[in-house]
Amino acid sequence: MARLTPTKVHVFLFLFLSIILFPVTLAAARSDTFSRNLSPKKLGLKREKLSHLHFYFHDTVSGKNPTAVPVAQAATTNKSPTGFGQVVMIDDPLTVKPEVSSKQVGRAQGIYASASQSELSFLMVLNYFFTEGKYNGSTLSILGRNSVFSGIREMPIVGGSGLFRFARGYAQAKTYTNNLKTKNAIVEYNVYVFHY
Ligand SMILES: *[C@@H]1O[C@H](CO)[C@@H](O)[C@H](O)[C@H]1NC(C)=O
Repeated sequence: MARLTPTKVHVFLFLFLSIILFPVTLAAARSDTFSRNLSPKKLGLKREKLSHLHFYFHDTVSGKNPTAVPVAQAATTNKSPTGFGQVVMIDDPLTVKPEVSSKQVGRAQGIYASASQSELSFLMVLNYFFTEGKYNGSTLSILGRNSVFSGIREMPIVGGSGLFRFARGYAQAKTYTNNLKTKNAIVEYNVYVFHY
């Protein structure tokens, strides 16, 4: 066997320590970063569920207590047959039955804006804020296209909070009543959402 010269001892020690200390140096390098891998269990995420929610959306534009309020429009909006450019802020109640006096489960809070020059179609950017039962305080976020005179419109659910963390899915809207004079509408919603 070759004699261990001081140089060989140094190389050996260096390699030995490098291997032993590798996890430590790696951890130190990682602590400088802002991200880490995490197991879903550590966030309390168990099995993914699919939920179906059903409610009625009350869009009240006119009357004493409107819940949908125009906040902006373009100089050309009034000349546009589709009201192109109008932006409406809403805080619409969501109820279990078509009657606005029925049990309220939440609100639809956000914006819809006329986004088509050729038909009445809205860009919908809003949150469903639930206030009933286990979903009290949880939200779902909608970002989609709503061509209001079509039979069933589908809008993506792009996320959520609370019990709806990591949510994704879609909402289907079907007009229940639409008063062309007052512009008030009741819309039936079926929402299908994956979440934990
Ligand atoms: C929903 O949560 C809020 C805030 O925690 C609470 O004040 C309210 O009573 C709850 N509503 C229901 C129906 O549980």
